[in-house]
Amino acid sequence: MNILVLGSGGREHAIAHKISQSPKVDKLIVAPGNAGTSNIATNKDIGVNNFQGIKELVLTENVELVVVGPEDPLVNGIHDFFLDDPELRNVSVIGPQKAAATLEGSKEFAKEFMQRHQIPTATYQSFIADNLDEGYTFLETLEPPYVLKADGLAAGKGVLILHDLQEAKKELKSMLVDSKFGDASATVVIEEFLDGIELSCFVLTDGTNYKILPTAKDYKRIGEGDTGLNTGGMGAISPVPFVDESFMQKIEQRIVNPTVEGLKKDNLPYVGFIFIGLIKVGDNPKVIEYNVRMGDPETEVVMPRIKSDLVDVLLAMAQGNLNKIELEIDDRAATTVMAVSGGYPEAYQKGKEISGIDEIKDSLVFHAGTKQDENGKVLTNGGRVIAITSFGNDYKEALKKSYQNIEKLRFDGMYYRKDLGFDL
Ligand code: AMP
Ligand code: GLY
Repeated sequence: MNILVLGSGGREHAIAHKISQSPKVDKLIVAPGNAGTSNIATNKDIGVNNFQGIKELVLTENVELVVVGPEDPLVNGIHDFFLDDPELRNVSVIGPQKAAATLEGSKEFAKEFMQRHQIPTATYQSFIADNLDEGYTFLETLEPPYVLKADGLAAGKGVLILHDLQEAKKELKSMLVDSKFGDASATVVIEEFLDGIELSCFVLTDGTNYKILPTAKDYKRIGEGDTGLNTGGMGAISPVPFVDESFMQKIEQRIVNPTVEGLKKDNLPYVGFIFIGLIKVGDNPKVIEYNVRMGDPETEVVMPRIKSDLVDVLLAMAQGNLNKIELEIDDRAATTVMAVSGGYPEAYQKGKEISGIDEIKDSLVFHAGTKQDENGKVLTNGGRVIAITSFGNDYKEALKKSYQNIEKLRFDGMYYRKDLGFDL
């Protein structure tokens, strides 16, 4: 069958890589893709929000299955677009419809969902510009640090954690009244600060049944020791060493199960990945956020650990048969380390030539932000550039290999964190 993956990052390269191993694939297309995906699939230069362009591509290439990588097209309703079009209705789309994608598109919606279904999360209230004063009063009832979240999508930048009450009030006003994050901060969720260690849980669902994928932990800050600005993610580890059987049971019983049941009760059709951002507070898991897609770079450690044919799994999701398949997972640990452009996550340059990729033999190389020029040279094309994924008997062994191999990679300004796993 012909399959289309939408997106251009390391996540999409890792998904395409796993799909490409299936004997069921005739043609694999990635749009827009990157230099890495062009080695295993055909890239088509169509943006993920260009629904009309995607429609034409799907029809010309006889695509039967579309896997949506990033959240944006889902929140914009790409799945609904397919269902509403008689020519596209029979094409399977992996990714929830717009209504359920609101779990990521609106923090307030996600909090209300969790409250309604008794899913453990931080206590909160939400505010708009008209009740700014009530927001100030609510902040006064909380202990620092203060957590302010722009309701809408803000490219991962919409969460502020502030230690000072006056500062928190100033930022609340700036978000609500001065549109600090544009329309995304027209509503702001203020919530209790949760103190603990974070991890991510990934769930596949067909809307009725679910399977839990391996857990992962990503490293978001640019600097060693988790310091400096937030990034999309500087590396990841799977499984998460501090998740034992009893903690996993709590995650499933208190969070995963009620989430999938909640989607059903609320009539929110969902075929796709659910990424549950968790924090371990004492011995208990609480939800920080929902995302309606896989994580990046978590996908670069989760996908390689799936031993089952991913196309079978995706088709079972689309057909509502997820209960009929076995998901086989590699017991080994996987780690990924991200090489980024100098300056990232602030301003950085693109177009730097990358060398050393071919020297890496015993790790997987997932391209995050790369492109190929007319002469076949691979150039940097984003902040996060290349993720090096390795296996090991434990995360330490896997990390050692990722670090040995990332040193073979070279481009002007290249940076990576050398301390992943320091907190475990
Ligand atoms: P989010 O976009 O909701 O995932 O938030 C971004 C980051 O802010 C999370 O990964 C956490 O590190 C942090 N964060 C969010 N909410 C809380 C909270 N209630 N308590 C502590 N940290 C939080
Ligand atoms: N690595 C975090 C994310 O994908 O949102």
